Amino acid sequence: MAFQTLLTSLENGILTITINRPDKLNALNKSVIEELSLAIDDVITNGEIKCAIITGAGPKAFVAGADITEFLSLDKSGGALLAKKGQAMLFDKIEHSPKPIVAAVNGFALGGGCELAMCCHFRLASENAKFGQPEVNLGLIPGYGGTQRLTQLVGKGKAMELMMTANVIEAKEAKQLGLVNHVTDAGTLLEHTKEILQVIMTKGPNAIAKVIAAVNAYYDYSKNGFDEEIRLFGECFGTDEMKEGVTAFLEKRKADFSRK
Ligand code: COA
Repeated sequence: MAFQTLLTSLENGILTITINRPDKLNALNKSVIEELSLAIDDVITNGEIKCAIITGAGPKAFVAGADITEFLSLDKSGGALLAKKGQAMLFDKIEHSPKPIVAAVNGFALGGGCELAMCCHFRLASENAKFGQPEVNLGLIPGYGGTQRLTQLVGKGKAMELMMTANVIEAKEAKQLGLVNHVTDAGTLLEHTKEILQVIMTKGPNAIAKVIAAVNAYYDYSKNGFDEEIRLFGECFGTDEMKEGVTAFLEKRKADFSRK
């Protein structure tokens, strides 16, 4: 698929999606959101893609936020629509993707950039990465799920402080807070992210999809996460994948989930 604002490359089942507006620090304008949405559709439906990485072009930014130049023309309903559409067509879609989508945060992850990283299933960061929700500087609040996901990831008190102060934190602190899982030097960020995905790809994709759905259910207040876990756990039984995994264990061999 050819994009104007993204670069994509597929290697060994891993699609790397690079947001490519480095002169604007990869800010999320309408085109980026629309193209990312299409790229995620491809991740979900294309059998050759097993998982994906989202990262930013250039040495400075992952994504420095939603594109502020698009804000002034919006009124109350336009603002609400921007947030609603963005959440539905991109941020929620990433969170609920049955295939793993991981953020490799290579610089500024501010506002919508931090929100984009947070809707991914987990995050790695380079040492120079910086995180923040500085919307209050613009008289705004996060609109792409940031108030919810930051609270889920770092807890209420710290999320309140970060969103109220607009403070930007370094990768090291983001790791201490649980916002990112690993911090690496910039040169090995993608390699390290791919190493983790390679491990995940040796597991059963059906089980991985169910881990994602069950963990997400914890945060879905319309569902009881424990009930959802029971339902999804039950669904694993009797599948070829589960039979292969259990049989391999019993036969003291490594499971081969590529076998149909
Ligand atoms: N929306 C639109 N354009 C953005 C942007 C955003 N969120 N963030 C950066 N840019 C643009 C700048 O306007 C500038 O464009 P120009 O060269 O045409 O003037 C270019 O990207 C480079 O940014 P600049 O501010 O010159 O880089 P810097 O190194 O001095 O500062 C930041 C980096 C990240 C601190 C600064 O760009 C910034 O504060 N960005 C906005 C962050 C934000 O509030 N995000 C939340 C939005 S809701």
